[in-house]
Parts: sequence; structure tokens; C-alpha cells
Amino acid sequence: MSRVNTVTIRKNKVSEGFSPLVAVTAYDYTFAKLIDGLVDIVLVGDSLGMVVQGQPNTLSVTLDEMVYHSKCVAAGLSNAHLVVDMPFMSYQINLESALKNAGRLLSEGKAHAVKMEGGVSIASTITRMVEIGIPVMGHIGLTPQSVHALGGYRVQGKSDSARESIIQDAIALEDAGVYSIVLEGIPLELAQAITERVKVPTIGIGAGPHCDGQILVLQDFLGLNTDFQPKFVKQFARLAEQTRAAVSTYASEVKQKSFPEKEHSFHVNT
Ligand code: KIV
Repeated sequence: MSRVNTVTIRKNKVSEGFSPLVAVTAYDYTFAKLIDGLVDIVLVGDSLGMVVQGQPNTLSVTLDEMVYHSKCVAAGLSNAHLVVDMPFMSYQINLESALKNAGRLLSEGKAHAVKMEGGVSIASTITRMVEIGIPVMGHIGLTPQSVHALGGYRVQGKSDSARESIIQDAIALEDAGVYSIVLEGIPLELAQAITERVKVPTIGIGAGPHCDGQILVLQDFLGLNTDFQPKFVKQFARLAEQTRAAVSTYASEVKQKSFPEKEHSFHVNT
């Protein structure tokens, strides 16, 4: 199996007989190794702020943390394309720090590309990154790093003017040279219009079925997230229940001294 890359991803546009891109998040080696070969794209999302760190949003995640998790995930992947989120304020301050920070994610974090939230406002930064060989995945619509400006995690693109501005963002990203665009939390009609309008693949999350691919947070669709269940997530497993049942059995066997047994133990002469 050859490695999925930005060139193969770019070609994945809705057309007759096309196969939608499959993307998921991962934050560690164990899950990365388990899912490699089953998906096209693995994203080390800054959603790790919530999923791994238990924070209310993504804003406190640092570049060092993204580098660390990217390195862990990269160690588990041989087939999937690895993209890593640039965290809040790692690309907004100036071009020089944005390039340096993206460079760290590729060199130290071993990522193949970075993802950045925003459209028109960050297009010039993306243009320069792409020029110097750093592939960029765009992310527009509901952009979690702007949670306070958006007044919460709300579906975007509800008014005509909001829809037009998201379309302009998508066009700006395409012109800047991104190889794909995540569309988050927008009406399916808008996602379809953008998908038809731009030549690079769109990858939806809460954006309906007409995108060129889909992405979900792994823990959400495995049923490991007991905090909340977003409308756009389908639970493909119920691992929280299975995990709790296994831990509870382990705990009672330890208490009852039925674990460990001889087969789990070592002897002086073996
Ligand atoms: O941080 C993240 O996990 C994301 C995706 C869910 C698109 O940005």
C-alpha cells in the first residue's frame, strides 16, 4: 500500500465513481497504529485540548504539545497522510513565526502538512507557506479557535451574507494553494455549493453528505466521549461502556484475589 499524500488527496474530487476521503483524528501511537491502513488522513487536531486535556476549548493548546502528539501519532503510521493543526496564535501574529512554527510541526512533529483555521484573513500567510513547500489544509465555517468571537459552537452560514463570506473564504484558500479544505458546522447546501465551486477536495464535519470526504473525532464516534454527543456524530461503537465493564471486572478480580492467576505469574526457574 503506498502512502496517501497531498497529490493523491488533491485528485479526490466528487465525480462519477469517486471514493470519498476518510479522515479521523488521533492523538497517540496506540490509536494511530490501530487505524493506519483503514483511513486516508489522520489529523492531530487541536481538539486534543478537549479530548486529551479535558479543557473547555482548543485555545490553551500549545505548539510544543502539538509537536509532541504529532510525533507520537507519526510513529504509528505507515500508510495514512498525517496533518497537524497549527494551534491558536501560532500563525496569526506574523509571517515569520507562522513559518517557523509550521516548520517545527513538519520537522520535529514529522507531519506531512498543517491545518489552519480561517480564509481571506490568513490567505497571504498560506500562500507563502505553500511557496516554500509546506502543504496546508484549510478549515472554514465553524472555526473552533474563534469560539469566543462566534458566540459559541454554532452552525455558521445561516444568512445570505454569512454564506457569501464563507464562499469567499473557500475561494481565497484555493487561490492561496491549499490542497484540501475542512468545512465545519455549515448547512449541507452551502457545503455542496463550495464543493462544486472549488477544485480542491472538501472534507466535511457537520457539513452534510456532499463533501469530497468526511472527518470525525475518533473518540466521538467510538463512543468514548461521555460528556456530550454532537448531532453530526454517529456512534459506530460504544467503547465507553466496554471500557468501564472491563475495568470493573479487573477491579473485582483484584479485590477477590482471582487475578493474577499462575498463568500470569513468573517463577524463579522460568
Ligand atoms: O481539531 C480537530 O479535531 C479538528 C477537526 C475535528 C476538523 O479540527
